[in-house]
Amino acid sequence: MKQLVDAIMAGSPRSAQRRAEFAALPVPESYRGVVVRRDEVGMFEGRVSRDKDPRESLHVDEVATPELGPGEALVAVMASSVNYNTVWTSIFEPLSTFGFLERYGRTSPLAARHDLPYHVVGSDLAGVVLRTGPGVHAWFPGDEVVAHCLSVELERPEGHNDTMLDPEQRIWGFETNFGGLAELALVKANQLMPKPDHLSWEEAAAPGLVNSTAYRQLVSRNGAGMKQGDVVLVWGASGGLGSYATQMALRGGALPVCVVSSPAKAEICRSLGAELVIDRAAEGYRFWSDERTQDPREWKRFGARIRELTGGEDPDIVFEHPGRETFGASVFVARRGGTVVTCASTSGFLHEYDNRYLWMNLKRIIGTHFANYREAWEANRLVARGLIHPTLSRVYPLEQTGQAAFDVHRNAHQGKVGVLCLAPEEGLGVRDEQMRARHLTAINRFRGV
Ligand SMILES: NC(=O)c1ccc[n+]([C@@H]2O[C@H](COP(=O)([O-])OP(=O)(O)OC[C@H]3O[C@@H](n4cnc5c(N)ncnc54)[C@H](OP(=O)(O)O)[C@@H]3O)[C@@H](O)[C@H]2O)c1
Repeated sequence: MKQLVDAIMAGSPRSAQRRAEFAALPVPESYRGVVVRRDEVGMFEGRVSRDKDPRESLHVDEVATPELGPGEALVAVMASSVNYNTVWTSIFEPLSTFGFLERYGRTSPLAARHDLPYHVVGSDLAGVVLRTGPGVHAWFPGDEVVAHCLSVELERPEGHNDTMLDPEQRIWGFETNFGGLAELALVKANQLMPKPDHLSWEEAAAPGLVNSTAYRQLVSRNGAGMKQGDVVLVWGASGGLGSYATQMALRGGALPVCVVSSPAKAEICRSLGAELVIDRAAEGYRFWSDERTQDPREWKRFGARIRELTGGEDPDIVFEHPGRETFGASVFVARRGGTVVTCASTSGFLHEYDNRYLWMNLKRIIGTHFANYREAWEANRLVARGLIHPTLSRVYPLEQTGQAAFDVHRNAHQGKVGVLCLAPEEGLGVRDEQMRARHLTAINRFRGV
């Protein structure tokens, strides 16, 4: 690995010499990766979700380097980041991800590589291509890349217009093995995208999954199709998804109403440029009076607060992901003809809402999930052009990924939490210092908050 890291640190990007050097580097037979183990799937039985601790279930193990198949790339991972899907994997909820690997493994001999007694997790990476498989001609050893997490086969027609609709759509590092929280990762070559030159490895690794998801959910016509002037209610506006949705709303000329749960989180939204912020903890909304009963008076109080902030307007778009706890309120506060767009259910997936508010007011609910190839590419382009910035607050070494996932599980973080894989320290990998200097304040906005 040391030889690999030395070559990455020394190389200048995109030269023929670098490609040749990298192609000549030996591929390590094994590598360190963050795994859950199949024989530990039952370890949290009897505990409530909150008490299931990723620090107990995520291990850094030495695992065998997978054989490289056609159309694939093996990447030396310099940095990765924690997404909520790694939290789900680590607490084995709502299902153990070994079920995904088993089902995938049954589809072909190549896919059978993924069905192992361990699952290397992680759905983001920034790093350098080490090898490409047969048939790959757009990427080369030595290329500095990020990877999006959409893995599709595209053998059937359903996904040919929108790759998310492929019946064999999987999230890499969650529904496939050999993910990004590791020293090496296996991806399909069409997951690769150029690493933004002005960012360090850990900064470049941070936006991937959430930035792409927020882009489809909020901006794309496959999602809410946001336009200038839209009032956008953003739940968890300083969190992983929300910190990108807020930036996209501001950049796109919309009016985000940011919902957060502490003064520090409210402050970070304001520093992004959002003027309309609701501290849901300080204002004490209780949408559920008990586990089974919602309180419509609280929906109304919340809606009144939004109108107070917007000068009487209701949200054109509600950017939903908390799920059960907030969904009734989200449907209620969306404007007549407005859209609730949802990609998750962190607080529970059995949603309840009063359908009279939906149909009588001609509202729509749109389900969305990650992003298709094109949307992921467009979302990465926004980062590469300095229009959207990483929201990295804290970075851990690979050995402490359990702690990083614990922070996210306990909602003790802001924006994104990064992980150094092969990168020996933070701040490396920047290739365009001039552009970086122009955006430095924005790049560092979430740091240490
Ligand atoms: N379908 C997809 O493709 C996709 C992609 C990315 C993420 N997701 C899912 O989306 C969810 C959020 O992901 P993330 O990366 O944004 O996580 P995150 O970084 O933890 O941010 C979520 C934010 O939501 C807010 N929140 C949490 N529980 C809430 C509740 N009960 N009521 C109101 N607000 C609540 C919190 O903000 P405050 O406490 O400040 O309000 C939190 O910071 C996760 O379930 C994740 O698995 C899905």
